[in-house]
Formats: sequence, structure tokens, C-alpha cells
Amino acid sequence: MLNLNYTLLNFKKLKMYDLTQFSLRDMSECGLVLRQLGKDSHTTEDVSNRIIKYLYENLISKDIKEKSCVLIRMFQMISYKKLSSELQEYASKLLNNQSVTPNLKCLTLLSTAGEKPEWNLRQKSSGHKAIPLANKAAIAKIPMISRLIQQLGLDPGQVVETDLNLLADLEQKMYNVFYVADALGSPYIPGQKSFVIPFNIKSVIGFGGLLPSGNIFVVLMFLKVKVPRETIDLLKPLALSVKMALLPFDQGKIFSDYQEQAMSQSELKDKDRIIEQLQSKNATLNQLLDVSEKSTLIQSDRLEKAIAEQQKTLEKLQTTHGQLLHTEKMSSLGQMVASVAHEINNPINYIHGNITPAQEYVQDILELLDMYQQEFPHPTPEIKIKIAEIDLNFIKKDLNKIIRSMEIGTERIYEIIKSMRNFYRFEKAEFKQVDVHEAIDSTLMLLDNRMKATTFYPEIRVIKEYQELPLVDFYAGQLHQVLMNILSNAIDALDEYNKQRTPEEVRKNPSQIKVCTKILNKEWVVISIADNGLGMPEEVNKKLFDSFFTTKSSGKGTGLGLSISYQIIVEKHVGKLLCYSQPGKGAEFIIQIPIRQKISQLVL
Ligand SMILES: Nc1ncnc2c1ncn2[C@@H]1O[C@H](COP(=O)(O)OP(=O)(O)OP(=O)(O)O)[C@@H](O)[C@H]1O
Ligand SMILES: [Mg+2]
Repeated sequence: MLNLNYTLLNFKKLKMYDLTQFSLRDMSECGLVLRQLGKDSHTTEDVSNRIIKYLYENLISKDIKEKSCVLIRMFQMISYKKLSSELQEYASKLLNNQSVTPNLKCLTLLSTAGEKPEWNLRQKSSGHKAIPLANKAAIAKIPMISRLIQQLGLDPGQVVETDLNLLADLEQKMYNVFYVADALGSPYIPGQKSFVIPFNIKSVIGFGGLLPSGNIFVVLMFLKVKVPRETIDLLKPLALSVKMALLPFDQGKIFSDYQEQAMSQSELKDKDRIIEQLQSKNATLNQLLDVSEKSTLIQSDRLEKAIAEQQKTLEKLQTTHGQLLHTEKMSSLGQMVASVAHEINNPINYIHGNITPAQEYVQDILELLDMYQQEFPHPTPEIKIKIAEIDLNFIKKDLNKIIRSMEIGTERIYEIIKSMRNFYRFEKAEFKQVDVHEAIDSTLMLLDNRMKATTFYPEIRVIKEYQELPLVDFYAGQLHQVLMNILSNAIDALDEYNKQRTPEEVRKNPSQIKVCTKILNKEWVVISIADNGLGMPEEVNKKLFDSFFTTKSSGKGTGLGLSISYQIIVEKHVGKLLCYSQPGKGAEFIIQIPIRQKISQLVL
């Protein structure tokens, strides 16, 4: 729960704001602080300094860990008669000493903060201390200000107007933000060569409003970050907060180091009354705003939390959906493979079953032939020709070999069929004791054709170092699934690596997959599968087990293999699945599973 008793000090320490990811919460927090900055101030300049300093210090860019503002300034229009003699002199010099009326409005620099030392004292500004706005044309020469005035919905002619009544109605509505997304090359931002380019200014933001005195105030920020459009709307309320902070001083003392001409007693009384009224109105509004912004804070926190939760749920849903598809695909593939295996089984049985009698028959016939040759050593010329034609001696030697190789062939087909049936029996999801070596061997057998040398790929050698292992409690089929995922990833990584290597390099360091097994602490079975392929960088290693994470081209990888394996090993069987890898140094996957499962721990 949010603590509502924020003190100004707390706030100052509380947060930095990043304009590239400014949130509703930032807006509320920052507005709350800005409004409080007027407390205990005595002059407009004083408040303005605090506001500018606060924004300069607290607007930071998280990416570059630096302040976002190169320069930030606050200006206010002030009547010539209210300026110090020094500023009056400065303003009239800019007007080439033409005669000046006391009410002539001057855009006056109230406070400044920035990267260069001279940008931190208004008295040191060379070109912007007090710019007289004699007419529309004078405003037009300051493009940023004229743009802001237009954005406020005002006519520059109205702004230089000295009749307060004409502006009074507008005051309550006028606040806005001026925004240049790309400062480089923008006609609204002068000093391209001397300022924008050397200081790498990316965006410019100005926000301001109209005070009851009919004077405009404006905060201008020259930023080294590119501010997105969405931030701008959130800055509008900040213009109002700055206005709230300035309001109590609008009719009062402006500069800390300069006291205007003394007023008559009655003038002073009138003014005091107006200020009192204003302050009371201001205080009430402030309270109202504080309350509503604090509840905005709470609401935005809740909202952000809800969004984050929703995002998580969505990701989980997507993962589950993907895994379901994967499992479904595997299951229907499994059924198909199992039925193909079954269909092949019958003819192979037939062939295999007939090989032994066939061999015996052939043997008998050969023996009979030998007998004939002994009994009738002188055959007819036709038989002699035929014997030479068919190379009878060679046939006699080769026939046995052919039959033997047919026998080996059918035995191998048998083994493949057995593996196929074993492997794809997982859809039955029964919990049983599994022979780990048999699981590894049958998976390797199914991947055998991917490891043989072809015209495109060199051979992948498999090295097995098995220790004697007990049977392990496991859901049938799921261990095959994990082994299949890890081994086929290893083959992919080796194939990919070989594409990048010369035949000479492949010959020197041939592709291999080493599978080792052992028992750890009498409780665990550890399977290590190490390839000497491509390996992977740290960024890939970190995301390895995330659903949908893949570096393979679309259609080749779904990025689910390892996330499913992780779920099976870690979540379902309370084991461990780890990967050690470096680019160019291959990858080693360690599967660690408890020999006995505590049934209560199992996730079904
Ligand atoms: N042995 C390995 N060597 C190098 N990189 C690997 C290895 N095993 C996995 N990876 C990396 O991890 C990523 C994720 O693997 P995972 O098995 O989860 O998905 P995939 O193989 O891309 O797709 P599929 O869902 O089809 O398995 C791979 O895209 C690859 O970048
Ligand atoms: Mg994979």
C-alpha cells in the first residue's frame, strides 16, 4: 500500500524520471513535487530556480545514466517597468534605445541550469536576459516562443497586449506543451551549428501557460534523448503544476536581488488582498489536486500491476498453447510411427523367419552340387560352359555371405522397429522404471541417419561412456522426448558448425557427441550430452529454456524443445537441467534426475 504522507524531502530522494518512458505515475509524482516547491519561497525567481533545478537534477536517461537536459530554462513575460535597471538597460539596448513604454512586455530569463557553467546563472546569459516583445514581429523572431504561443491557442498580437482584461478570460484555459521531436534541422530550433549539433540535442520540449497578470511563463528543455509522442500529453499537467507554484507570486516580488518601486499604502493593501485571495484559492485547489493525484498514483500502481499480471498470464497462455500443439503433434506423429512400425513388423517377421530355412536349403543344395561334382567329374560340354558362365565357385562362396548380411539387415530393422515403438509410447504417460541406457540408445538409433556421412554433411561420431545404472522412476516416453530434443539440438549445432568450417578443419576436429552417464550420491542419475559444435553466446544461454526462444530460421525451430525438456526434468521430475557452453567450444547439457521419485512431489 502506498504511503500517502510524502514529504518534499522524501520526494526529492524518491525518484528519477526518464522522459523516454514517462508514466502516469511519474506525472503524478513529479506534479506533486513541483507544486510544493513554491512553499517558503519569497519571489518568482526563487520558485523558478527550485523548479528548474529539480527538473534538471531529476530528469535522467536510464540508458545512458546521465541527465537528460543539456540546458533547461524558465522564462516569463515581465513588464519593462518591473525589471531592474540593469535588465531595462539590456532590453532597451536590444531595441536600439528606441523609446520604451513602461508596460512593454519583455521575455525575461528567470532561471537556468545546464551543462556549461555559464548556463547556471541567469545574469551570465548573453542573448536572453530580457527580450523586449514590442510587437508581433519581435515574437516571430523567437520561433520557439512564437510556436508555443500559437500552441496555447493565442495570437502573438494578443500576448503583447497590455490590456489585462483582454487576457483575463483566456488565462484559465491556457496551458500547453511545445514539442520538437527531432531538433536537428528543425526550423523552430535556432543555433543549429553552435548548439544543436555540438551538444547533440535530440528533442526540445517547452511547456507553459498564461498567468493572471496576462504574462506567459515557459519552461524550455533541450534534451539529449529522443522523447516519444506519448510523453507529451503527460507533460501538460506539469505545465499546470508549475503554474500553481508560480501563481502566488504573480502579482508579487519577482527577483530576489531587486525590489521594485515602492507602492502607495492603498495600492499595497489592494495587492495584499488580491494575493491573499489568490493564495487561499490556490491552496484549496492544491489540496484538491494533491488528493486526486495521490489517488492517481495508487490507481496507476494498481493498473501497472494488473497489466504486468495480465502480460504474465498471456505469456503463460501462449506457452501452454504452444506446448499443447507440440505435444499433440508429437502424439499424432507417435501414433503414426507406431502404426508404421507395426505394419513393417509383419513382413519383416516373415523375411527374418524364412532366412534360417532358406540358408539351410541353400546349404543342402550346395552340398548336393558338391556330391554331383564328385560322382560325375566329367560333365557335358554344355554344363561346363554354364559353370564358367555363372562362375559357380564364386557363387558358392558369396551365397552364404549374402544370406548372412540379409540376416544382419533384418535384425537391424527389428531394432529400429523396437526403438520406434519404445520411443513413441509416451502418449500413454504411465509412470514406470526406465532403463536410461536403453532410452539413450533407442533415441540415438532413431537419429542415426542424421549422423551418417552424406554428400552434404560429414559423419558425427557418438562416444558413449556409460556407468552401470539402476532403473529410474520416470514417466514413460518423456525421457525419450528430452533426449530427442537435446540430441537433435546437438546435431543441428554440429551441422551448422560444419557449414562454416573447411573440410580440413572438419578433418582435424571431427564432429562428435559424447554421452556419459553416472550415479551421483547414490540418489541421482546424471546424463551428460556434450557436442563439439557451434556453442552459444551468453545471451542465448540465458534464454535457452524460455518458451519460443529459437535462433533457428522459422519453420526449422519452434523454440519449444528445451522449454518442454525443462518442464519435464525440473518441474515434473524434480530434477536439474543445466547447460554449459561458449561460442566455438560446443555445448554440454547435464540432466540430473532422482533415481526414486517421491510420489507426493510429482507434478502430474
Ligand atoms: N547444443 C547446442 N548448441 C548450440 N546452441 C544450442 C544447442 N542446443 C540449443 N541451442 C540453442 O537454443 C535454442 C533453443 O533450443 P530449443 O530446442 O528450445 O528450440 P529450437 O531447437 O530452436 O526449436 P525446437 O522447438 O524445434 O526444438 C536453439 O535455437 C539454439 O540457438
Ligand atoms: Mg530444439
